[in-house]
Order: sequence, then C-alpha cells, then structure tokens
Amino acid sequence: MEVVIVDHPEQVMADIIADAVREGASTLGLATGSSPLATYTELIRRHTEEGLSFAAVNAVLLDEYVGLPTTHPESYARFIRDNFTDHIDIGDVHSPDGMAADSRVAAQAYDHLIGQVGPVDVQILGIGSNGHIGFNEPSSSLTSRTRIKTLTRKTREDNARFFDDDLDQVPMHVITQGLGTICDARRLALVATGVGKADAIAAAVEGPLSAACPASILQWHPNATIVVDPAAASRLK
Ligand code: F6R
Repeated sequence: MEVVIVDHPEQVMADIIADAVREGASTLGLATGSSPLATYTELIRRHTEEGLSFAAVNAVLLDEYVGLPTTHPESYARFIRDNFTDHIDIGDVHSPDGMAADSRVAAQAYDHLIGQVGPVDVQILGIGSNGHIGFNEPSSSLTSRTRIKTLTRKTREDNARFFDDDLDQVPMHVITQGLGTICDARRLALVATGVGKADAIAAAVEGPLSAACPASILQWHPNATIVVDPAAASRLK
C-alpha cells in the first residue's frame, strides 16, 4: 500500500485516473460523497481544457441509498451525474437499484453486472470517519459481496449534512459493493482530506487488517494508493 501526503490530493487522484484512462482503462469505479468532489472537478477541467476523453470508459458506482429515487438530489446516481458524469463524455454509468422491490435481488444483480462490465481498472474510494469504504460499516466481512447494509448511527449523523441536518431524512439502508467486490478492482485509490478523517486514516494504514476498520483491507490489496492532505495524515506515526 502506498500513502501519498500532499497539499492537493485531487491532483494526484486525477493523475492516477487520467493515466489509467489514457492507457486504455475501460471501467472506472466511482465513489460519491464530498471527498472525491475536487478530483471530479479537476477531471472535468482536464476533459474540457485538455481534451481528456472518457469515451471508451464505462463506470460503476460503489453504493446507493435504499428508498431514494434516482431523481432525488441526494441519490448517488443523481449526485454523480450532477457532479461528474454529465460534464464529460463517459459511456454507461451503472448504479445499484435503490428502488427495487427486493433489495437483496438488486444487490446480487449489481454484483453480477460488475463482474460482466469489470474488472474495474481504478476504484475511487473515500473513507468514513468510522473507517468504512463504500458503505461497508465496521464488522463487515472482508470477503463480502454487494448487499444491503444498515448504516450506523455515526454514518447517518455524518451524512445528515446532506439532508438539511435532519437525521430522520437520512435513509437507514443502502446497497453497497462488498469489500470482496471492491478488491476485485485492479487498482484502489482512496482520497481523504481534513482532520476529521485522521483517526480513520491512521487505523486503515497503521492498524491491524481488521473488519473493525474496513478500509484496512487496502493493506491487503496488491495495488492500493491512499492520497491524503497533511490534516488527514496528522495522526500517522
Ligand atoms: C460514498 C461512499 C462512502 C464515502 C464516505 C466518506 O459513495 O462510498 O464510503 O466515501 O462516507 O464520505 P465523505 O467523502 O462525504 O466524507
């Protein structure tokens, strides 16, 4: 596992993704949430100003809230369109069906789809303050596949800022790629900024490989890079 500490993580992340795309990557794995936003902004700039083309690329999202239609501003399918994919020339963008009548069936179907369009060349990741990646909350099986998960209170509190600071509006359940699914990607690139992520980054990088910190699975992956700013790196030894 490589750890890169820089003032502008989005530049390193954009370099990783742009290099992969130029070298023929056909599938990108996209995270949502605030952490990759600056990376997406930089990739949109490189597309618009430097001609970086995503025309040969398809994408799969990490996760989706159960019960939010894809028109809802906080659905991850909508979020990624608004903040990234509507602004570039990318091909198909797949996401779990959070409105399916049977979320278990939808999760299995999504895992199967990733197997068909994958392997993912670069999986972009953020990290929760409790160490989750995707929505694999602490105690998630290290070999888990895409499935329905219940969010912890901590994650719902963290994400309430996207829902008018109203915890009751934050969905209880999600469909998320499992840790095993995520690790099928050829390369993992995790970005974190700010002191609020410092404990999670320290546990992921220097703690034991453990389901207690799902992001520690990056220690096991053969090609994982963690890109952090000095604040997020501040609790590394
Ligand atoms: C989102 C996702 C989550 C977020 C994490 C951090 O698709 O998979 O793991 O990356 O919750 O969220 P932010 O970046 O908003 O702090």
